[in-house]
Amino acid sequence: ELEDLEVINKWSKRIDGVFMPKKFKDIQDKVSGWKVNEEDVWVVSFPKTGTTWTQEMVWLLLNDFNYKAAEQNLIKRSPHLEASALVRAPYVTFFSPFVPQPIKNSLKYAKTQKSPVCIKTHLPWNLLPKEIQKEIKKPKIIYISRNPKDTCISYYHFSRLIKEYKGTLEEFCNLFLSGSVNFAPFWNHVLPFWKRHDDSNILFLKYEELKSDLPGAIRKTAQFLEKDITEDQLDKLVHHLSFESMRQNPAVNYDWLVKLSHMFKPDKDKTNSFMRQGKVGAFKETLTPELIERFDKWTAENTRGTGLTYP
Ligand code: A3P
Repeated sequence: ELEDLEVINKWSKRIDGVFMPKKFKDIQDKVSGWKVNEEDVWVVSFPKTGTTWTQEMVWLLLNDFNYKAAEQNLIKRSPHLEASALVRAPYVTFFSPFVPQPIKNSLKYAKTQKSPVCIKTHLPWNLLPKEIQKEIKKPKIIYISRNPKDTCISYYHFSRLIKEYKGTLEEFCNLFLSGSVNFAPFWNHVLPFWKRHDDSNILFLKYEELKSDLPGAIRKTAQFLEKDITEDQLDKLVHHLSFESMRQNPAVNYDWLVKLSHMFKPDKDKTNSFMRQGKVGAFKETLTPELIERFDKWTAENTRGTGLTYP
């Protein structure tokens, strides 16, 4: 069996400075030349920062709180633009019928959706469609961010869950800090959006603020999307977006992905799930003081003078 680093180097490489699945090369030109519809809303994030949570909130705000329609899987309602580049060959070859269409053919699928589409992407600013980068088109963009320590731990568990990584947490932290996990470097991802957080078409959210004040975050997002929300609608949405409720909701909890990964590579431990802990600051229970210090130093160096902090 291949060692983790060999596996990583087999599937990913740096593309325009971003650590990406090699398959992204096949769709890069199409993404770059993507015709942007200004009615659509983009949910952009580094992986494991609360993307799914934000997507579900945005989708319901955009679709008049249609909970019936929200029973359809989120991957169909809110297409993940570059998803096809993330599926590794063995999955496609052996489990082709099980890989959902919105993922297998993500660019094509996204084009079939009726506007306003809530588009999900993990692409950093410098890999987004040229029309967005050059500000020729200014669709609404919601960027969701999370403190890097919790993000890294969540990413580690997720990578193990989908059988893309089997090493230790400490090794994973080294990969994360050195920018050798998909969509890294982390700061190259966050800072360009943070720099633009005052732009009228950009809303910069933090996972930590969704945790501490979900109603406030929903109100802020509704206002950004120019949507009215009554107190009753707010209460219902807060409940729907709670960790417990999302964990049990098959439309958003990615149980299908967990099952598919398990089919691909059976694992004794079946207790793990995508909706894992949903906490802020849980890194304190898992990271060694040395690692915490390394993360903090790295964070201080990279955020100096930017004004970006995590509560
Ligand atoms: P943990 O692994 O720390 O539990 P993404 O959607 O970007 O992949 O992010 C996944 C992370 O968001 C996971 O973090 C998941 O549990 C958390 N999450 C998803 N829905 C949530 C919710 N309703 N409340 C709190 N955390 C949530």
